[in-house]
Amino acid sequence: MKYIVGNFKMNGDSSMMIDWIQKFSCSSKNKIIIAPPQPYLNFIDKLPNNVFMAAQDVSPYQDGAYTGQVSAKMLYDLKVSYCIIGHSERREYVKETDDQIYQKFCQLNECSITPIICVGESQEIREKNTHENFVVNQLEKYTDINEELIFAYEPIWAIGTGKIPTISDIGQMINVIKDNVSSNAKVLYGGSVNAKNASNLLAIDNLDGLLVGGASLNPVEFANIAQS
Ligand code: PGA
Repeated sequence: MKYIVGNFKMNGDSSMMIDWIQKFSCSSKNKIIIAPPQPYLNFIDKLPNNVFMAAQDVSPYQDGAYTGQVSAKMLYDLKVSYCIIGHSERREYVKETDDQIYQKFCQLNECSITPIICVGESQEIREKNTHENFVVNQLEKYTDINEELIFAYEPIWAIGTGKIPTISDIGQMINVIKDNVSSNAKVLYGGSVNAKNASNLLAIDNLDGLLVGGASLNPVEFANIAQS
């Protein structure tokens, strides 16, 4: 069983959500999770039985005067079972730090929501060949955690670009991550995954699944990926 996670990012509206749910049909044994924008998390009641709901982010705080933020308790209240944290777009656009991401992890942990923690290097770091160290540093706070943890290795230069690392590079980075966290942690790959490359990626021995951005917006393509 692999995890196939679709991150809709800031795309879609309620009619797209209804359309997506109507057209998505998949009998795969893989664990299928979608992360729509926050206003559509309440579509959880309309999802097929084999599709789980994830949020794209959570507040690092428990509750209080934090206008615009959504707490882990609120996600739990909506029966959301997974939450992406530390996506590179949040690290870049709202300057999220590893400390804040860890605080978010702690909030999710209190509410038994499984985090999907994104890590990955920029093009510049890859060119300097320091990507292994860079990613190991991003994992620093999670080395001794035994709760259910999912990581997503997403090299920033592969997100939305159509470029992906070689299969052996991905396998190597998955090993680096697994060597630095508890043995029951799962590691997914994300960055330009589509229906054409999914089966090659899913054949990587130590890989536990895929985090899919753009291609997840198309329910037929996403079902094909989940069935790869
Ligand atoms: P992409 O995005 O599949 O569109 O490259 C992946 C992600 O950012 O999670």
